[in-house]
Amino acid sequence: MSSIKEEISKRRTFGIISHPDAGKTTLTEKLLLFGGAIKTAGAVKSNKITRHATSDWMEIEKQRGISVATSVMGFNYRDLRINLLDTPGHEDFAEDTYRTLTAVDSVILVIDSVKGVEKQTRKLMEVCRMRDTPVIVFINKLDREGQDPYDLLDEIETELDIQVKPLTWPIGMGKTFKGVYNLYKKNLLLFKGSQRKLSNDAISLTDLSDERLDAEVGETAANQLREDVDLVNGVYPEFEESDYLAGKLAPVFFGSAVNNFGVRELLDCFVEVAPKPKDRSTEIRVIEPSEDKFSGFVFKIHANMDPKHRNRIAFVRVCSGCFNRGSNYHHVRLDKSFRFSNATAFMAQEKETIDEAFPGDIVGLYDTGNLKIGDTLTEGEKGMFKGIPSFSPEMFKEVINLDAMKTKKLEKGLSQLMDEGVAQLFTYELGARKVVGTVGALQFEVIAHRLLQEYGASVRFAPLNLYKACWISSNDPKKLNAFIDSKQRYIARDKEGKLVFMAESKAWLQMVEDNFPDINFHEKSEF
Ligand code: G4P
Repeated sequence: MSSIKEEISKRRTFGIISHPDAGKTTLTEKLLLFGGAIKTAGAVKSNKITRHATSDWMEIEKQRGISVATSVMGFNYRDLRINLLDTPGHEDFAEDTYRTLTAVDSVILVIDSVKGVEKQTRKLMEVCRMRDTPVIVFINKLDREGQDPYDLLDEIETELDIQVKPLTWPIGMGKTFKGVYNLYKKNLLLFKGSQRKLSNDAISLTDLSDERLDAEVGETAANQLREDVDLVNGVYPEFEESDYLAGKLAPVFFGSAVNNFGVRELLDCFVEVAPKPKDRSTEIRVIEPSEDKFSGFVFKIHANMDPKHRNRIAFVRVCSGCFNRGSNYHHVRLDKSFRFSNATAFMAQEKETIDEAFPGDIVGLYDTGNLKIGDTLTEGEKGMFKGIPSFSPEMFKEVINLDAMKTKKLEKGLSQLMDEGVAQLFTYELGARKVVGTVGALQFEVIAHRLLQEYGASVRFAPLNLYKACWISSNDPKKLNAFIDSKQRYIARDKEGKLVFMAESKAWLQMVEDNFPDINFHEKSEF
């Protein structure tokens, strides 16, 4: 058996993020093809919650089963074991994506060359920035008439607040797209339209004045490339791996995922530079992956695959040591010991029972309701992992109980659905009104349906005029109490009992912030 250190150095755990439709699913599929984890194109498509399903959430429910299998896709490439964590493309599930990002060590960001930086791209990058997650950018769909590459790079730098360094450079685009020049490896990759082959042979071209360039792409395109490369080398900084690892500099690749073009270049760079599992902080101390003792945290829960049995799968990211099936582990929040004898690993689309897992790996634990998002498992040490915050929801509705006889069931159902992270629950201090907050409208339908189907509780959601839920704190307890007294009607508690100020509008929140300078207003639950 190899040592833990060796296992760690082989692991690369990452996620692909993008605005819906930029090409995340397509790129995922091509990466899995390279890794030999799937054999045919089209295998990953079924995982996608399509934009057509925006109003058809029953369809989404059907797809839930499928998406469990593809939530984590493990594959081998060169000597590495790569874990790709899927993030839901549908923007109503953005909260799920934010949490998945807490379990990765780096990300690949896909940008559509026609559309540039989009709304979801911005939000997802904000989450990456919070943890300084290293980012590689893939600018996709070069076979289409997209935006000028310089403009795209400028947009990424200004809108996403990260320095970029192109490592490949496109030659033409759309109808005139001829390929890319790899500035890093100094070779030329020619685009020959739709490709069935997995990879294209690159032509080594260390000197761009070489006449072979003119012969391959034509004189005009060759001259343009020479000019571009001079400019790019002058304008953009050298690629420093340490800046990338610090989340300050993003290497950029151009390509076309659907045509399998530029994907290998991306993957080859990824395996060279992407970070192996890193240290993680708990409330008590920093835990290093190579420590002997196992620790991990739950970042996702998938529930009720079979409505008859309340079983769920909790996804645990291993942070240190070796996870052994059948061992007892300490559940820090409940201060209790549990044994998980049916842990599952994820390999492409198959689940398999595993005996051990290493830092960077994700294990699926069957659970009957003891685990929730953010929970920490250890070999006895107390202290929860930090860095798995909730974000202020964007939509709020009040829960109206339609069947007073089922109040207990409703409370249980709401509590369990919130553990899964479907939405967030806030309870007003005055009157105990319950408010559900979500990122998208779809969740309200899903919650009402599931409460009825799985718990027999009937609810209606009443619209509420709320702008944000802000977690509040202060260094001065007296001032905090005075604030709570003066704003009683707007004070609620989240599910953990933390104090929250329910702001009705942006302008009003601003005013309250100005009037109470000693109170801190946070847009996330960890501060
Ligand atoms: P997503 O997961 O980020 O939402 O995007 P997805 O991969 O599903 O891609 C969205 C659409 O963009 C798909 O077309 C896909 O085929 C297309 N696409 C992906 N990469 C490229 C590319 O390099 N060039 C071009 N021209 N298109 C690309 P669709 O019509 O929605 O689906 P399909 O019928 O092709 O499956």
